[in-house]
Amino acid sequence: MPTLFDPITVGGLTCPNRIWMAPLTRGRSTRDHVPTDLMATYYAQRASAGLIISEATGISVEGSGWPFAGGLWGAEHVAHWKTVTDAVHAAGGRIFAQLWHMGRIVHPSLHGVHPVSASATTAPGKAHTYDGKQPYVEARALAIEEIPRVIREYVAAARNAIEAGFDGVQLHAANGYLIDQFLRDGSNHRTDDYGGSIENRTRLLREVTEALIAAVGANRTAVRLSPNGDSQGVDDSAQTALFPAAAELLDALGIAFLELREPGPNGTFGKSDRPPVAPLIRKVFKGVLVLNSDYGLESGQAALAAGAADAISYGRKFLANPDLPYRFAEGIALNPDDQKTWYSQGAEGYVTYPLASAIVG
Ligand SMILES: Cc1cc2nc3c(=O)[nH]c(=O)nc-3n(C[C@H](O)[C@H](O)[C@H](O)COP(=O)(O)O)c2cc1C
Repeated sequence: MPTLFDPITVGGLTCPNRIWMAPLTRGRSTRDHVPTDLMATYYAQRASAGLIISEATGISVEGSGWPFAGGLWGAEHVAHWKTVTDAVHAAGGRIFAQLWHMGRIVHPSLHGVHPVSASATTAPGKAHTYDGKQPYVEARALAIEEIPRVIREYVAAARNAIEAGFDGVQLHAANGYLIDQFLRDGSNHRTDDYGGSIENRTRLLREVTEALIAAVGANRTAVRLSPNGDSQGVDDSAQTALFPAAAELLDALGIAFLELREPGPNGTFGKSDRPPVAPLIRKVFKGVLVLNSDYGLESGQAALAAGAADAISYGRKFLANPDLPYRFAEGIALNPDDQKTWYSQGAEGYVTYPLASAIVG
């Protein structure tokens, strides 16, 4: 069985290790969702990850609802992401872009656009906006005639990502955002071809993934799912039937990798009272499977040794430890992450975490 330090081939890429960086929204773009030079520094610092999965990046104005998050729908976005990917490649790294449509999690105050979803539902809690936290509003259900337009926007963003120098794209189908809102029956009450049966609720996932593959190739198309339990009010009554079916269709499409975010009962970034679906997914998804949430060096290694995963993605540990693979390899203590600076603007808590090489001299 491989170790975390063994290389792995993903699509056309050779990743030097299986210690990957999970997607992390950090709010360091401009108000127009244009990446900044600071982001090039941040991602280049983390280039020793086997693979970096970028922060969630908006595919359209309609799909973007996070203050200062990056976008991928305009020429300016492409030009500035190119600075980021160039910096990562120059530092010897690899980076996929996570493609994001937030669906009902978008707050209309961001861009004056009303949120859309599978059905007319309202997310629980409050949205992050430029004017502080505000209650979510009820989304409008996407008309069936609008779905091809949304798929085209995913495709355009994927093409832009490749033009901007990304090595591939990851469809964000997790964490209660648009694709997840269609997948699960708690938020999808449609009675047309996109609602009801599992085949219908996985239709948007399949159609978007097929379109991404047609546009940029299967070896450059990945997907993230969050099967076990509630995410931002999105949940399913039969997750052990739904998610293996979704994984099976993704397997048939031959995607580059599938990443699963599945918190445990004592999770420190979300908790779930339901067991991970990953063991069932492992049986039907034969491609590269990446597991996430609360992993450390030993638990990540154990998952690989047990054959449960091919790589592990680390979120907060990579946020606070730019040289995480080096620290794991040398057994060096990890910097704790500072939650206050997760989404703050500026350099502090973003590019200021110390490298172990600086500490050990
Ligand atoms: C600050 C922060 C931002 C995040 N942003 C994203 C994101 O943009 N896309 C995504 O799929 N998950 C996002 N997540 C979830 C992480 O990818 C990951 O699933 C979570 O941190 C659990 O992994 P960890 O225990 O290794 O940190 C975010 C988590 C944190 C802490």
